[in-house]
Amino acid sequence: MGIQRWCRVFALGACTMALFLCLREPGTSAGVQEPSQFPPTSSTSSTTTTRQKGFTKLEVLPTLHETLQETHQPFLRSPVSLREKNFIIAGDSNDQRFFVILCRRLTGRFDPITYIEKVAVQKGDFNGSIMWPEAARTQFCHDRERNLTVMFFFHYGLFSLLPQPHWYLDFAKRRAETHYPLWRRKRWMAPSTDLAQFVWPDVIQQLLPKRPLILLLQSSMWDSMAVLESLVGTRVSQMKDSDLQRLAAAQLSEANLSQWSWLDRASSFLQSFQQGISAQNLSVQATLWRTNPNCPAEAQQGSVVINRLSGLFAEAVRGAMLKGGPWSQSCLVDWRKHLEIKSPKQCDHHHYTKEPWILAKEV
Ligand SMILES: *[C@@H]1O[C@H](CO)[C@@H](O)[C@H](O)[C@H]1NC(C)=O
Ligand SMILES: *[C@@H]1O[C@H](CO)[C@@H](O)[C@H](O)[C@H]1NC(C)=O
Ligand SMILES: *[C@@H]1O[C@H](CO)[C@@H](O)[C@H](O)[C@H]1NC(C)=O
Ligand SMILES: *[C@@H]1O[C@H](CO)[C@@H](O)[C@H](O)[C@H]1NC(C)=O
Repeated sequence: MGIQRWCRVFALGACTMALFLCLREPGTSAGVQEPSQFPPTSSTSSTTTTRQKGFTKLEVLPTLHETLQETHQPFLRSPVSLREKNFIIAGDSNDQRFFVILCRRLTGRFDPITYIEKVAVQKGDFNGSIMWPEAARTQFCHDRERNLTVMFFFHYGLFSLLPQPHWYLDFAKRRAETHYPLWRRKRWMAPSTDLAQFVWPDVIQQLLPKRPLILLLQSSMWDSMAVLESLVGTRVSQMKDSDLQRLAAAQLSEANLSQWSWLDRASSFLQSFQQGISAQNLSVQATLWRTNPNCPAEAQQGSVVINRLSGLFAEAVRGAMLKGGPWSQSCLVDWRKHLEIKSPKQCDHHHYTKEPWILAKEV
C-alpha cells in the first residue's frame, strides 16, 4: 500500500480527499506518532525524506484523475506542491486540531506554533484591534524546509452570515465569552463573510510573506450544533433523555438546507474570501472545501442530528461543484466519503481523535 495510491483517490468530477491520506507514514500500519516522538530522532525520518514523483508526500495536495482532464480545472491537473506557499485553513476546532498535527509533522517539532491574540485591522469599517479568546485564536507555523507557512483561522459557521437566525444567536450567546472576538470592546458575533473578506486577508498581508495561497475551508460543526441546540434549547452537554427522543424524531432533509439558505451562505463565504484576497493582490493556487465524517458517535452527544446534517452539507457542496458557478474552481476534500467512523473511540465528542486525520479506509 504505497502512498502514491493513497494520494490518488477521486470522485465526482472534482478532485477529492488526498491531503489527509497523504499524511500517512508509509511502512507503518497506524502512522500515528505520539507527541513524545517529536522531534523525529533521525534526520532520515520518513516524515521529510520519502519522495513520490518528485514530491515529498507531505507536499502533495489533491490532484485530478486523468479521465477528468477535460474539465475546466487546469490548475488541479497536477499535484499542487506546498512548497513556497501560504496554506490557509479556516474552520472550527477540528480544523485547529488538524492544523496542529500538520504543523508538527511538517516541522518535526512538538511546539512549532505562533499564536496571535490581537491584530490591528485597517480595513474600512473593520479598523481597530480585534482580540480573539484562546479557543478561537489565529495561529500559524513556518516550515522552513519547504518555505511554507500554515495559518489557521477560526470561524463561526454559516449561520453567522446576515441575517443571523434567532436560534443561531442563542447558540452563539452560550459561546460568546469563550469563542467570539472582542472588537471595539464588545463581543462581536462576527459573520464569517466579514472575517473572510476583511479581516483574514489583512492578517495574511500583515503577518505572512507574500506567496501564492492554498485555501482549505469548511463549515459543518458550528452549523449542525446550532441546529441541534435549536431543537433542544440547551447546550448539547445538558441534554436529557426526553431531548434525545425529540432529536431522533427530527425531520431533516435538503428542504431544510434550502429554508436556511445554507448553500447560498456557503457560496457567499467562499466568494467573500476570494474577493478579500484579490483586493490584497494575493494569488490563490487552489481552493479546497472539506466535508465532515460522522463524529460525534454517541446519541447523547447529538450524533443523530449532527451526522445527518454533515451528510446533507456534503451532498449540497458536491452538487454545487458539479454545477459550477462559484464552486467550479474549487476542489473537494471529501473526508466524509473516505472516513467511515466504525468505533466511538475515533471520536472525542464532536472532535475527531488524532488517528482519523491520518488513517482512512484503504482503496
Ligand atoms: C475607524 O473607523 C471609524 C468608523 O468608520 C472612524 O470613525 C475612525 O476614524 C477610523 N479610525 C481609523 C484609525 O481609521
Ligand atoms: C521563501 O519565500 C519567500 C517569499 O516568497 C522568498 O522571499 C524567499 O526567498 C524564500 N526563501 C527561500 C529560502 O527560498
Ligand atoms: C425541516 O423541514 C421540515 C419540513 O419543512 C420541518 O417540518 C422541520 O421542522 C424542519 N427542521 C428544522 C430543524 O428546522
Ligand atoms: C492592488 O493592485 C492595484 C493595481 O495595481 C493597486 O491599485 C492597489 O493599491 C493594490 N492593492 C494592495 C492592497 O496592494
